Amino acid sequence: MKSGFPITTWLLFLFTVGSRGLNLCPPYDEILPCGCYPHAIASIDFLCYDGTESEIHLAFNNATWDVTELRFLTMNGLSIEKLPEGAFGDVSFQEMRLQYNEVLASVHATALLPSKNRLVKIFLDYGNVNAFPFDILPEMTALKELKMGFNSLTEVPVLRSNSLEILDLAFNRIRSLKEGAWSLPNLTTFRLLGNELMTLPEGIVSNMERLVSFECQMNRLGPTLPKDLLNFASSTLNLIHLAGNGISRLEPGAITGLQVNTTMCLHQNSFELLDEASFRPIVESILSGSGYLDLNGNPFTCDCDLAWLVINEGLRFEVNGFCRDNEIPLRDLDPEEYIQLCT
Ligand SMILES: *[C@@H]1O[C@H](CO)[C@@H](O)[C@H](O)[C@H]1NC(C)=O
Ligand SMILES: *[C@@H]1O[C@H](CO)[C@@H](O)[C@H](O)[C@H]1NC(C)=O
Ligand SMILES: *[C@@H]1O[C@H](CO)[C@@H](O)[C@H](O)[C@H]1NC(C)=O
Repeated sequence: MKSGFPITTWLLFLFTVGSRGLNLCPPYDEILPCGCYPHAIASIDFLCYDGTESEIHLAFNNATWDVTELRFLTMNGLSIEKLPEGAFGDVSFQEMRLQYNEVLASVHATALLPSKNRLVKIFLDYGNVNAFPFDILPEMTALKELKMGFNSLTEVPVLRSNSLEILDLAFNRIRSLKEGAWSLPNLTTFRLLGNELMTLPEGIVSNMERLVSFECQMNRLGPTLPKDLLNFASSTLNLIHLAGNGISRLEPGAITGLQVNTTMCLHQNSFELLDEASFRPIVESILSGSGYLDLNGNPFTCDCDLAWLVINEGLRFEVNGFCRDNEIPLRDLDPEEYIQLCT
C-alpha cells in the first residue's frame, strides 16, 4: 500500500526543504542505538534492535523530528518491560512491528494514540503482554490487524472496532472474554486457539457478518457446548475450529449458521455418539458444498445411535471419523446393515 502521507506534508517538505533544510529523520546521534531510514518522502522507517526504555523515550521525545508521520516502526528483540506513557512522543506510524520483545508486559494507550488515525497493523506477538489498551480500539479507525499471539493476556474486555479484520489472540493464557456487546463487524479472522477458555460471551460471533475463520481449538470449552454458544452470521464462513476442547456433547442449536462450504473441526474431542438433534442440522447445512465435519480422534460407539447418519443418503460422506471398536471409517458403514439391525 502507498503510504497515507498527507499532501500537506508534501507541500511543507517542498516549501521548507530549500529554506531551512528540513530533515526527514533526526540527527542519527539523537536516536542511537535506533535508526531512522527515509526511503522516499512518503516512507520513513524507524528500526530498533537494541536500546533501553529511556533511550527509546529520548529518541522520540528529545530528538529533532521535522516529519512525524512515519511508515513502519520495527522494534524487535528488546529487553524493555513496557511501552510507557508517551513512548513515541507525537510520532505516528502506519505499522508497528513490536515482536519478540520477551519481557514487554504492558503498552500504555498514549504510545498508540498519536497513531490512531493512521495505524493499520500492530504486530505484538511473542512478548509477555498482560496489559493492553483495548479500550481505545474504537478510536483506531484505520486498524485492520491486531496480532498478539504468544503473550500473557489472561482476560480480554469487550472489544469494539468497525475496521478490524484480523484479531489474533492465540497462545495466551486467556481464561475469559468479558460478557457484553462485542462488536467486530468487519472481522474475517478470529484466532483464540491455545488459551484456557471455558466459555464464550453470549452472541460473540453473531454480528460478525464477514467472518471467514474462527479458530478456538485447544481451549477448555467442553464437556457440553450450550445452546446458542456460537450463532454464526457470515455467508463466507469457511472454518470453525474447535478441536481439542474436551467436548463430549453439543446441545441442539449450540453451533448454528454453517454455510455449505464451512468446515467444522471437532477432532480430538470426547464424542462417543452423534446426537441427531444436535448434529443433523449441522451435517445437512454442509451437504451440498465443500464443507465437512472432522471428527477424527473421537471414541465413537458405532451402534444404532448413528443410524440417522448412515441410512440417510449422503450424510455420512460429510463426516471424517472412525468407530472406536473396529477402526472402520464412519463413511464406510453399511446402510443396508443399519436398516436391518436398527429400524
Ligand atoms: C535533550 O536534548 C537536549 C538538546 O539536544 C540535550 O541538551 C539534552 O541533554 C537532552 N536530554 C537528555 C536527557 O539527553
Ligand atoms: C471493512 O472492510 C472493507 C474491506 O476491507 C473496507 O473496505 C471497509 O472500509 C471496512 N470498514 C470499516 C468501517 O473500516
Ligand atoms: C462453495 O465453493 C465453491 C467452490 O469450491 C464455489 O463455487 C461456491 O460458490 C461456494 N459457495 C458458497 C455459497 O460460497
